[in-house]
Amino acid sequence: MKQRASRNQTLVCKQEEIDRLSTDICCVDNPVSIEDIIGKVIAGDIFNVAENLPKGFVDCLILDPPYNLSKNYNGNFFKEKDKNSYRKWFHQVIELLIPTLKSTATVYVCSDWKTSVLIAPILEAHFHVHNRITWEREKGRGAKSNWKNNTEDIWFCTVSDDYYFDVDSVKLKRRVIAPYRVNGKPKDWNEEEKGNYRLTYPSNIWTDISIPFWSMPENTDHPTQKPEKLIAKLILASTKKGDFILDPFLGSGTTAVVARKLDRNFCGIEINKEYCCWALKRLETNASDPIIQGYADGVFWERNSLTEQPTRKLH
Ligand SMILES: C[S@@+](CC[C@H](N)C(=O)[O-])C[C@H]1O[C@@H](n2cnc3c(N)ncnc32)[C@H](O)[C@@H]1O
Repeated sequence: MKQRASRNQTLVCKQEEIDRLSTDICCVDNPVSIEDIIGKVIAGDIFNVAENLPKGFVDCLILDPPYNLSKNYNGNFFKEKDKNSYRKWFHQVIELLIPTLKSTATVYVCSDWKTSVLIAPILEAHFHVHNRITWEREKGRGAKSNWKNNTEDIWFCTVSDDYYFDVDSVKLKRRVIAPYRVNGKPKDWNEEEKGNYRLTYPSNIWTDISIPFWSMPENTDHPTQKPEKLIAKLILASTKKGDFILDPFLGSGTTAVVARKLDRNFCGIEINKEYCCWALKRLETNASDPIIQGYADGVFWERNSLTEQPTRKLH
């Protein structure tokens, strides 16, 4: 359970809302067209749904599967498997999803370090692997006889060498600690009302993103919810407006919500019906609050800079 306090903003879905939102959940038990699934949250097991999806329609696949850890997803238990069984399971997932991808598609896969060891050879066998991003989560569980586990990986893969990547859309805005001047003028930084800042290109170490916490409007009770800011980086770097994003392990709906905020098309699949309702509720809330915390004025702001960020402008 995540940390709680009195000013709790965590999204809560009451039973009557679950009943109402359930009617908007999509069910796929026969082959469907793109029009059938655009903007939809599909309730189901990827192992049953994938074969009914259209072929070659996905520009960006965001894969955040259960890592090889025992975890309770709202009553659906994922049990840690022996290494070979997890490899086999993940391999099946990849093979089920490959037919949905365009030849220009990008595939991002989230994992922890232990799971990365198992999936890396499978990704290399099927895709062009360009990078492994390390996300410093900031929070991690301490251990007496081990280093605190504080990072996650995001593998950046593409189907071919023909792919879209827009590095300018994911620049990082950082406060300048030692403002260097040449002839009295700032060297590669700007003087602004609220301080001195530098815009930098993002590396494969991401230290600017916190996991959603109790005071953030995006927070839900999902045990492994990804931050909107993290998904926004993937989507902005690797898709154009109107592109199609598929998330087959949608969870609380982060990919769907961010895709809509950034004017991309999406479809999500999630085995747990209540999570599907949380995703739908987040999508409803979106209409009145299209903000991505930490992304404003078209740049990503470093951690703990909320008071310096403009409040309402995404681009
Ligand atoms: C790591 S979580 C994804 C979290 C998500 N990215 C978010 O931001 O909320 C994995 C999700 O996959 C779902 N899941 C597990 N097995 C599944 C399956 N076979 N088909 C579809 N969804 C599944 C779980 O219920 C869980 O919500």
